[in-house]
Amino acid sequence: MSNTEFSSRRNQLLQSMQANSICLIPAADLVTRSRDTEYSFRQDSYFQYLCGFPEPQAWLVLSNRADFPNGLSVLFCLNKDPVAEIWHGRRYGPKQAKQDFQMDMTYVLDDLEEKLIELIDGHDNLYFAQGHNSAADEIVFSIMQSLRQAPKQSKLAPNNTLDVRSMLDEMRLIKSDAEINIMRQAANISVDAHKRAMQFSKAGINEYHLEAEIHHEFAMQGAKNPAYGTIVGGGNNACILHYTENNQVLNAGELVLIDAGCELQGYAADITRTFPVSGQFSEAQAALYQLVLDAQLAAFEWIKPENTIKQATDVAVKTITQGLLDLGILQGKLEENIEQQTYRQYFMHGLGHWLGLDVHDVGIYKIEGQDRPLKAGMVLTIEPGIYISPEANVEEKWKGIGIRIEDNLVVTKSGYENLTHGAPKTISHIETLMQTTLKDS
Ligand code: GLY
Ligand code: MN
Ligand code: MN
Repeated sequence: MSNTEFSSRRNQLLQSMQANSICLIPAADLVTRSRDTEYSFRQDSYFQYLCGFPEPQAWLVLSNRADFPNGLSVLFCLNKDPVAEIWHGRRYGPKQAKQDFQMDMTYVLDDLEEKLIELIDGHDNLYFAQGHNSAADEIVFSIMQSLRQAPKQSKLAPNNTLDVRSMLDEMRLIKSDAEINIMRQAANISVDAHKRAMQFSKAGINEYHLEAEIHHEFAMQGAKNPAYGTIVGGGNNACILHYTENNQVLNAGELVLIDAGCELQGYAADITRTFPVSGQFSEAQAALYQLVLDAQLAAFEWIKPENTIKQATDVAVKTITQGLLDLGILQGKLEENIEQQTYRQYFMHGLGHWLGLDVHDVGIYKIEGQDRPLKAGMVLTIEPGIYISPEANVEEKWKGIGIRIEDNLVVTKSGYENLTHGAPKTISHIETLMQTTLKDS
């Protein structure tokens, strides 16, 4: 992502803020995993969106005060420290950060409180995401208290504190061409990872072996991390929506559901494919699989500007409910089943969600109680599923089958582009691809 794009996002935010406002955006911090070790660092999505500075603990401060006609961007970051850098890794330091991230000013983190008091003084409004980062909440609260208690030093705290998230969420919801390009790359890498898993699948291996193949492909194509906890659920495990143990043996005759996407420059892909462990669908598996696929393709037809996710959901629900009736898994009339939501026993989650820097990306789904119309540049997943628990009151042949098919769509001016279309999903495409490697079973 270019500095020009980061700076135009900051300008857009500065222009949307009320006059004489200051905005504080803290970076993420490291999170302890076990003594002296931390989870792999991931930058805060809002902070990432506005400047791309990759280090923990930093703060971005933006002001549109009248004496900064082009807006002011200030970054606080860790100081250079040869000893700390030997132990914990390289740091930009304020001087290099100012240059590389095109900031108007940079300061060391040690001066945060003192400089923030100076910077905030005199602004009417403070934009901040209270409750988003508790350590940052405490710092901001303490600074505001200092300002409020300092009238004798002629310092003035802003009268209003406003939540910056609603503005940033609306900006993040509509992706730029540069963002879509990165998401297309993340999608392509993730497509290849799913193909690799299909080709490596065989009875007797563990779910985590397929997870490893997926992550291998991500890394070999330049995406170091998955965007979320990879799900590899064989057999009944596919019916656990957020299954991440991934530690059971895959058996011949079962399906395996893989929900995995890489993260690239902070952006997520989010693909699910379900396929037979040994490469061939049984009749019952194929019947349910085709139904999920039909529902997904019917939903795609509704993805275009001015339509809503609700319309796509309604058609997917109708397809699934009619299909479950045809297969004898539900009984009665279509309308009554839809009315009573009987399908929810088997399709219990939403049709999809926004996708972007966060896998469940920001952006409200309703505006004043009404489903919001789709707009070009939105990116969303379409991911219908059918999950028949082993305890369900149905014929034996359906029990323990879990299927989800998930793709990532960009809304275009005339319809959509499916970023993840390359991952095989028709029964014949999957079976053909899976024949291209030697199988033990
Ligand atoms: N991978 C999370 C989801 O599909 O929503
Ligand atoms: Mn998803
Ligand atoms: Mn997913």
